[in-house]
Amino acid sequence: MQIRDANVSDLEKIVRLHTQSWRIAYRGILSDAFLDGDLIADRRVLWKSRFDKPAAQQSIAVAEINGVLVGFACSFGSHDAKWGTLLENLHVAPDYKGAGIGTQLVSHVARWCIRTQASDRLHLWVLADNRAAQGFYQRLGGSEVEQSVWDAPDGQRVPELRFAWPRAGLLLLPR
Ligand SMILES: CC(C)(COP(=O)(O)OP(=O)(O)OC[C@H]1O[C@@H](n2cnc3c(N)ncnc32)[C@H](O)[C@@H]1OP(=O)(O)O)[C@@H](O)C(=O)NCCC(=O)NCCS
Repeated sequence: MQIRDANVSDLEKIVRLHTQSWRIAYRGILSDAFLDGDLIADRRVLWKSRFDKPAAQQSIAVAEINGVLVGFACSFGSHDAKWGTLLENLHVAPDYKGAGIGTQLVSHVARWCIRTQASDRLHLWVLADNRAAQGFYQRLGGSEVEQSVWDAPDGQRVPELRFAWPRAGLLLLPR
């Protein structure tokens, strides 16, 4: 497995994986009509804007096995004065879950954060009903520090939780 910085030629593969992952992980949380509709177009708008006009301190990493995209992570450095870098999207292809790829992507983000950002704090938002991801973040030592509500793209208001790590160094795997 190789993790590298994404480039625009990865756009369609990321869009497809993001769509596939939402359809499974967010089933029962977002509406079926939205998940089964033109989700691919919705995700393409997001990723096109990220590649066309990257935000300051944006970092997109992709994980590949034999050239096949098996996961990605998108982070925004120093996004929050208190909580530091935001890990905005983390998805592993459904057939590859549980094989350590998510852990390695988080470690990659942590390394980038330590190398490039003034603060090495790291945080993310996870949907309150996405218990599987919360189990994963707890396994990595993250703590729930705040509750909020996400204005989801299907028009619902969905409860979400902020998970945080005081130091990205806690997430590093040996290389
Ligand atoms: C959440 C996700 C990124 C985790 O990546 P992954 O590659 O499947 O996880 P890993 O294989 O690295 O798991 C690492 C550890 O977390 C544990 N873990 C994984 N999923 C878990 C779960 N549902 N509950 C409890 N622990 C879990 C694993 O058992 C493993 O622990 P171990 O080393 O003791 O065996 C991935 O499953 C995914 O893409 N899910 C769907 C999309 C999603 O919900 N993304 C997060 C949005 S906030």
